Amino acid sequence: MFYHVLTLFPEMITESLSTSIIGRALDKDLISLEAVQIRDYTLDKHNKVDDYTYGGGAGMLMQAQPVYDCCEAVQKFITDAGRKRSRVIYVTPGGYTFNQKMAEDFAQEEDLIFLCGHYEGIDERALEEVVTDYVSIGDYVLTGGELPAMVMIDCISRLVPGVLSNAESSMIESFSNGLLEYPQYTRPEEWHGKKVPDILLSGHHANVEKWRLEQSLIKTQKIRPDLYEAYMEAHPPVVKKKRRRTAKKPLAIDERL
Ligand code: ADE
Repeated sequence: MFYHVLTLFPEMITESLSTSIIGRALDKDLISLEAVQIRDYTLDKHNKVDDYTYGGGAGMLMQAQPVYDCCEAVQKFITDAGRKRSRVIYVTPGGYTFNQKMAEDFAQEEDLIFLCGHYEGIDERALEEVVTDYVSIGDYVLTGGELPAMVMIDCISRLVPGVLSNAESSMIESFSNGLLEYPQYTRPEEWHGKKVPDILLSGHHANVEKWRLEQSLIKTQKIRPDLYEAYMEAHPPVVKKKRRRTAKKPLAIDERL
């Protein structure tokens, strides 16, 4: 996976994503990341990339020219390397809300370009020409698109083969069932007077799994009733068929009268 982040603050991206699991994936060349300075593409002699909005209103808007030229330069770099033009994700509070399914879809791509806006956003005409996906990370407004881009890169990268170790991947499987995570405990067995639930010490694997599912269901119903409903719809309770009693011998006609 080749990530290209178009931004006015490239160091925010490179510095923050260089540690932990993503840093390890970068070192192993399982993913690559370049942060491209949009300002390098402005044709303005004062290096300006923003201006006032037509029609009035507070704040500045990023201009179409540097954004468009920056994006096209990155697309050319990708196609010159023999790969297909990339999807361009504009990170904006006005986009579709990011979720795990979207991450799975993006993880199939070879390249992804993230376009990070600042100020009041980007001139609509550039967006119309370069953007393929408008994505938000939630119903709140941040000062720029860098943090949302990093959130998405982190989430997508976990799905790239080899990025997570075997132990890390098996954790994903158990948590991607559409329910919230069950409570977990490590040593000591008792802390602040609170004991680890006995069932987790029992060594009875099937009972432990049953307990975990119950805990997930309880927590999900309370905190995310929407997810709980969806889970219940997809997993209707199994109704055990009652065993039919041996059929009574039909009565003879004259007996029924
Ligand atoms: N830019 C500012 N706020 C944002 C959000 N919530 N999601 C994506 N991009 C943003």
